[in-house]
Amino acid sequence: MSTGYQSGFCNEFATEALPGALPEFRNSPQRCAYGLYAEQFSGTAFTVPRHASRRSWLYRIRPAAVHGTYRRIDSRNLVSVFDRSLASPNQFRWSPLPITAEPCDFVEGIVTVGGTHSSPAQSGCAIHWYVANRSMRERFFSNSDAEMLIVPQQGRLRVHTELGIIDLEPLEIAVIPRGLRLRVELLEPEARGYLCENFGAAFRLPDLGPIGSNGLARSRDFQTPVAAYEDVEGNFELVTKFMGSLWAATIEHSPFDVVAWHGNNAPYKYDLRRFNTIGSISYDHPDPSILLVLQAQSDTPGVDDVDFVIFPPRWLVMRDTFRPPWFHRNIASEFMGLIAGRYDAKEEGFHPGGASLHNCMSGHGPDRATFEKASRADTQQPEYVDQTMAFMLETRAAICPTAHALGLPQLQHDYQACWQDLPKKFSRSAAPAR
Ligand SMILES: [Fe+2]
Repeated sequence: MSTGYQSGFCNEFATEALPGALPEFRNSPQRCAYGLYAEQFSGTAFTVPRHASRRSWLYRIRPAAVHGTYRRIDSRNLVSVFDRSLASPNQFRWSPLPITAEPCDFVEGIVTVGGTHSSPAQSGCAIHWYVANRSMRERFFSNSDAEMLIVPQQGRLRVHTELGIIDLEPLEIAVIPRGLRLRVELLEPEARGYLCENFGAAFRLPDLGPIGSNGLARSRDFQTPVAAYEDVEGNFELVTKFMGSLWAATIEHSPFDVVAWHGNNAPYKYDLRRFNTIGSISYDHPDPSILLVLQAQSDTPGVDDVDFVIFPPRWLVMRDTFRPPWFHRNIASEFMGLIAGRYDAKEEGFHPGGASLHNCMSGHGPDRATFEKASRADTQQPEYVDQTMAFMLETRAAICPTAHALGLPQLQHDYQACWQDLPKKFSRSAAPAR
């Protein structure tokens, strides 16, 4: 199997690992070249507007239906039913999860932090950590419930999929379409990161409005793998997440047997370092929507189910401005993770691999150390925020944490203390000079 990529965001790709495997004029010819089977892989309703349609045609050695009967298996710490009674207006923060000493692959190492809505409703998302210390062996995974956004924080991964191979490292992300079979191999001894299951409409690039035709994440920087197949037989296991549970079936061949495919329902990766960051060059700062990489739109215009936002290295040049994010409360709920470095609104306590959760209308913002430092900063001087990459999953609905996440020893029970020593500074005699 070879690796290689095609550029562009969900373009109408065409790729073949053997010459002539793609039919030239028809989607489903009577007889496919090389004795292949034709199979459609559909990611949207058939009748959505053409610009929103996602589907691919696969030319493969065996159809996807060739496998044993599924049986339900233990889902471990992968949770899909979110208990509203655990939703809380309290602010939460977790230290990084340790990588277990017990053998643990990508699927076994999923630990759910929380989620909104449900897969059956095709709305909302689930947010997980993953930790792993071994590659998936002799088994494959697919997710019928959700599109998956993988955000590595530690350790390089090789993600084999039916449609090709994605090599992934921290500061890159990958998006796997709903239902696509994959196997995650570790290219380093240990791996840790974040995983978002997007139950609703697939992620897309946001419109740019007055920004114009350039800026934020560029379509040409998204990379989709070329066709890469293996013709391998053996005793394998096919694990599928379906309606919140894990199921397993025997499969006696590798499902990575797609010799050629064309279409736009395909996995892709994106290097977050390629993001064209935009911000204020005068005073004040725009809302974090200016840092939006991908959005999963809801049925309400402008109100997304899930937004994926990043806080990359960038210049801060705004004068006479408190440069970190000010204190705020939003209608959206915010899950944050830190991939590398330090987040500029938190001097301490938010570590790479850690996470925070600020639900709808829960007040938050800089801790005291950050507040004091930013209040005294010389804003006549530009500052470069270096060696950092934080991200936010912003959701329409409040995120219900799982009982397991709330019971983890990594939960920082003193998190709220970071704001409690902010002193009262009000004084009627300190009125501004006019
Ligand atoms: Fe926030």
